[in-house]
Amino acid sequence: MLELNTKKVYLNEKEIASMQPKINLLFKNNLLNKEGIGNEFMDWIDYPETVKEEVILELEEKVNQLKTLKVNHLLVIGIGGSFLGAQSAIDFLEGKLASRDKVLFIGTDMSSSYYSQMESFLENKEYAICVISKSGGTLEPSLAFNFFSNKLKEKHGSKANDYIVAITGNKGILKDFSTQEKITSFEIPNGIGGRFSVMTPVGMFPMIFVGINVREMLEGAKEAKRFLLKESSLEKNTALRYAVIRFLLNQNQKDNQLKITHEIFTTYDYDLEMLAEWWKQLFGESEGKVSTKGIFPLSVHYSRDLHSLGQIIQEGPKTFFETTLIVKDNSQKPITFIKDINDGMKINYLNHLTLEEINQKVFEGVLEAHYQEGGISNIIIQLKEKTPKSLGYLYYWFFISVTISGYLLDINPFDQPGVEIYKKNIKKNLSD
Ligand code: PA5
Repeated sequence: MLELNTKKVYLNEKEIASMQPKINLLFKNNLLNKEGIGNEFMDWIDYPETVKEEVILELEEKVNQLKTLKVNHLLVIGIGGSFLGAQSAIDFLEGKLASRDKVLFIGTDMSSSYYSQMESFLENKEYAICVISKSGGTLEPSLAFNFFSNKLKEKHGSKANDYIVAITGNKGILKDFSTQEKITSFEIPNGIGGRFSVMTPVGMFPMIFVGINVREMLEGAKEAKRFLLKESSLEKNTALRYAVIRFLLNQNQKDNQLKITHEIFTTYDYDLEMLAEWWKQLFGESEGKVSTKGIFPLSVHYSRDLHSLGQIIQEGPKTFFETTLIVKDNSQKPITFIKDINDGMKINYLNHLTLEEINQKVFEGVLEAHYQEGGISNIIIQLKEKTPKSLGYLYYWFFISVTISGYLLDINPFDQPGVEIYKKNIKKNLSD
C-alpha cells in the first residue's frame, strides 16, 4: 500500500540502526502498552476497529435525510482538527475542483469578503450546515455558525434545525445547544484529539455526504494497524523509520552545516495540497512544545512553487529536508497531447508521454537537482492508489509516526497547550 524510499537521505544505515534499541522500547511501552505521557488521548489507535457500525449507519441516515430535503451543498464549519481532515480527504478522493461545488468550508478566518461570497453563493441553493467543534466553543466556527444558521432560519423558519448537524464532544456549549434545539448531533470520542479525528464522525460525515466509502477508509486504517503494530524493525516498519530519519536529520548536525530545523512537505498533485495542510497540523501541533526541539513543518506544491521558492530551496540556507508524497492515480483517464503539424510551441517531442508521465519526469529532475546539487535530504512516500483504503492507511501511518516522533523528543504528542493560550487571549480581548 505504502512505500518509503529513503535512498536520497544523507544518513547511513548504521546511523539509523543505532536508534533501534530506543525504538524497541518506545514501540513496546508507548505504542503497544500505551504507557507514555498523553496516553489518555490514544483512543485513535483502536478506533477503526472499535467504531460501531450503528454510528456509520446513523451518519448515513442523516445524509439520506438531507438528500430527501433536496440538499446538494454542505457547509462545513470548523477549524484546525475540526476542518483539515475532511477537506484533505474530499480533495484527495473527489478532486480539488470537483468537490468545491458539493462541500464548502467556513469558520477558519474572519474574512468579511469570504462570508459575503459564501452568503451570495448559497442564496438560492439548498444547503445544510455541519458544524464541528470538539470543545464546542471555538470563536471562529461559533461566529460562522451563528451567521449561517440564522440564514437557514430565514429560509426554513422552524424547520431550519433539520438542515443542521453538529459534531462535538460529550460536553460543552455546542453539545448543550444541540440538545436544547433538538439538532442531530454526533459525538467526537473524548480520547481522540482534533488532529487525530479525521476517521471519526468529524471527517466521516462530510465524506459520506460526497459519497466516499468510509468503511473502506477504516479498512485501510485497520490494515495499517495490523502491519505497523506488528514489529518495530526499522527496516520493515516504515512509519517508525520515517520518525527516526526525521529525528536524526534534526538532531545530528553534520560538521560545518546548518542545523536542520524544517521539513518541507512536497506535492505534485493539487488534490494533495490539503493533505499537506493536514500533515502540517499533525506534526506541528504534536511536536512543537519546547523551543529547542521539534521540526517546523512547511509545505510546497510543485510545479507551482518551483517557480517561486525553487531558487531558495535549491541554493538558499540548507536548514530543511524535503518529504514528497507521490500517489499513483489509476482512476483518471490519461491526459495526452495532440501532435501539432507545425509544432508551433515546440512541444511535439513530448507527444508520446501522458501528463502524469511528464509530471513524474519533473519530479525525478527536481529530486536529482535538490539531492545531488543542493545537498538536500529527500524522503519519498509512495502510495500505490488514490482510494479510500489507501487514504485510511496513510492517515494511520502518519498517526503512528508522529506519536513515535513526539516520544523520541520526550514530549507529549497529544496536547496543544500553546493553542489554548492564544484562544484564551482572544476571548479576553473581546470581552475587555
Ligand atoms: O488539534 C486541536 O485540538 C486543535 O487544532 C483543534 O482542532 C482546533 O483548535 C479546533 O478546536 P475545536 O474542535 O474544539 O473547535
